[in-house]
Amino acid sequence: MSNLNKIMFTETILRDAHQSQAATRMRIDEMLPMCARLDEVGYYSIECWGGATFDSCLRFLNEDPWERLRTLRKAMPKTKLQMLLRGQNILGYKHYADDVVDEFVKKSISNGINVIRIFDALNDTRNMKACMDACNKYRSEDKSGLGVVCEATMSYTVGDYYTRDYYVNLAKELEGMGADTICIKDMANLLLPYEGFELVKAVKAAIKCPIHIHTHNTSGTGNMMYLKAIEAGVDIIDTALSPMGNGTSQPATEPLIAALAGTPRDSGLNLEEVTDIGQHFKGVAARLAKDGFLNKKALETDVKALIYQVPGGMLSNLISQLTEANAMDKYDAVLAEVPKVRADLGYPPLVTPSSQIVGSQAVFNILSGERYKMVTKEVKGMVRGEYGKLACEVDPAIVKKIIGDEPRITCRPADLIEPEMAKYIAEVKASGYYEQEEDVLSYALFPQVATKFFQYRAANKYNVDTEVGDVETGIQPV
Ligand code: CO
Repeated sequence: MSNLNKIMFTETILRDAHQSQAATRMRIDEMLPMCARLDEVGYYSIECWGGATFDSCLRFLNEDPWERLRTLRKAMPKTKLQMLLRGQNILGYKHYADDVVDEFVKKSISNGINVIRIFDALNDTRNMKACMDACNKYRSEDKSGLGVVCEATMSYTVGDYYTRDYYVNLAKELEGMGADTICIKDMANLLLPYEGFELVKAVKAAIKCPIHIHTHNTSGTGNMMYLKAIEAGVDIIDTALSPMGNGTSQPATEPLIAALAGTPRDSGLNLEEVTDIGQHFKGVAARLAKDGFLNKKALETDVKALIYQVPGGMLSNLISQLTEANAMDKYDAVLAEVPKVRADLGYPPLVTPSSQIVGSQAVFNILSGERYKMVTKEVKGMVRGEYGKLACEVDPAIVKKIIGDEPRITCRPADLIEPEMAKYIAEVKASGYYEQEEDVLSYALFPQVATKFFQYRAANKYNVDTEVGDVETGIQPV
């Protein structure tokens, strides 16, 4: 009976915790001192790569994300390393060709990733297929001996369309597509404890794969939900060490270890050791706060999310957009408009990038005084079908208003994208900065940002033995 197995933990302190609380600014030198001890804890996995970390390494931290991954792999040889991958968007914000997706997954595995969590903002499984196939195809690229886990993900949201049956059917489909584990990803902390219990039970009854659950504690219900999900037989939970746990991050690791100790689902993790490791990250959190990346607001319970059913991050985006437009008096009107825009666009789950797309359009609809008088290019793309299949058909009158008589696509968006790898390889080689095959992938995802990083890396290397151009003089191209 799987619900008598010990509960397994995924530690998110090296990825989602600082992405959710501190703009993804934790550096490798702040991770390394604790890696050897994290590796001994006995976590199911340690999430440490993907999501926004790739962009942040290149853009803000002058770190090669691939080098970061290899370093972490070496420092934690015993534990499965986990990443978050946005399906056909890889780690960027648009759809990429299948050959780029294939190569990215291959290199992620060969550089040290074991668990690949794959999601799509619209839960369109066609946008996850190339990633899942690559995961299965490149199992032999794993050098760690810990294996590869293809973790297919359901982005959780609420609305008439999103019934328990919807998720049960989605889970079955993903299992049929070759998933090893299924993740219920509650990025907006919308899954409440009792529904979490029923949902896990229903999905568990329908599939054989282990179930991994992910939430945040933005509105304060995250750890209660975990407890009910554990009672329902969930296999793996995502938590973050307490110095960067709770609030907009995951429920904290230590209280959940303690709560389950001595029960049939005791994790077996050593609470004292984990608490001691956490002390190091208290210092890291203090550094991030001092540098202005960790805002106290990220640690507070934000109950507004329970009422408006939008992710916490989306609320703060709306506030900053309205403040900029000097229109905070319209805040309530915009909040009321968000669910209407979401309905007009076929009820997408609100997760990157759909949350930003819906939020910005709601602001435009209210500020311009007429709905869809101004329409963002992303909203047009969504209605054209460029992000994939929407949960519900869009009202023809709304379609007409947003894109006129422009054609819409119904195929998998990436079917319209020609192979891109050859072009990217040629461009990076021509730039003179090519050092490793992985550079091509960095460039494919973030051309300008990666090029700037390559220049920095080359300058640093060239100046290694000279006094000229070191970081202090500030004349290095960063
Ligand atoms: Co998350």
